[in-house]
Amino acid sequence: MLRERSRAEEWMDAADATEPAFQGALRDLARINRMSLAYRPVLSWLDRVVATHQLDRLSVLDVGAGGGDMLARIAGWGERRGIPVALTGLDRSPWAGRHAAAQGVTARWITADLFDCAGRFDVVLCSLFAHHLDDATLVRFLHWLEARARWGWLISDLHRHWLPWGVVWGAVRALRMDPMVIHDSTVSIARGFVRADWERLLADAGVAAGIRWAFPFRWQVGVIR
Ligand SMILES: C[S@@+](CC[C@H](N)C(=O)[O-])C[C@H]1O[C@@H](n2cnc3c(N)ncnc32)[C@H](O)[C@@H]1O
Repeated sequence: MLRERSRAEEWMDAADATEPAFQGALRDLARINRMSLAYRPVLSWLDRVVATHQLDRLSVLDVGAGGGDMLARIAGWGERRGIPVALTGLDRSPWAGRHAAAQGVTARWITADLFDCAGRFDVVLCSLFAHHLDDATLVRFLHWLEARARWGWLISDLHRHWLPWGVVWGAVRALRMDPMVIHDSTVSIARGFVRADWERLLADAGVAAGIRWAFPFRWQVGVIR
């Protein structure tokens, strides 16, 4: 069942999604990010970027930024490290920017499809976003990342495997999460990746990048120049 990347649609991407449902999903996604330790590997990667290039400030673009909780964590990371960070969130849904602002996320916000977005940033990252794209679009996305990121880029996304699928199926129900999250969480895992997918996608794109495991259920694919 999980042998290949699923093409099933997420409710979040559906044309008939509503703002209250989308906002509810973003609230629960932030809970899932906290519980699934999503922030730590991204912040450790930022540590490596600034150490590699001896940077004393950083501009960061978060693609598919959703409710902005990753950006809020990066703001805290910058404060703790004494590194001023210029944060930008990019999301095609206007509901995402509104939700992030309501949560007090202080980032510049771009509401657009990523491929309509130009500009360069010190680092470009995305979390729980890549699985929204099909393989052909992911190859295009890898080229886009190469062009947009000055010092490095990072994709953090889900491992496609029956174990996280089962854990998540149970957890979202036990925690009475939003219906959109109950549907999309296991679809996201089915749309997720195994290492061989990333090796194939990077080869198709002609891009050299590292692939690392992030506990408990993620792949981190990225480049530090
Ligand atoms: C599953 S959410 C992830 C949100 C957040 N990064 C997180 O970790 O919780 C994926 C987000 O990507 C956005 N998105 C999907 N396709 C997009 C595209 N082509 N360009 C920009 N944003 C997109 C959706 O609107 C949604 O907010």
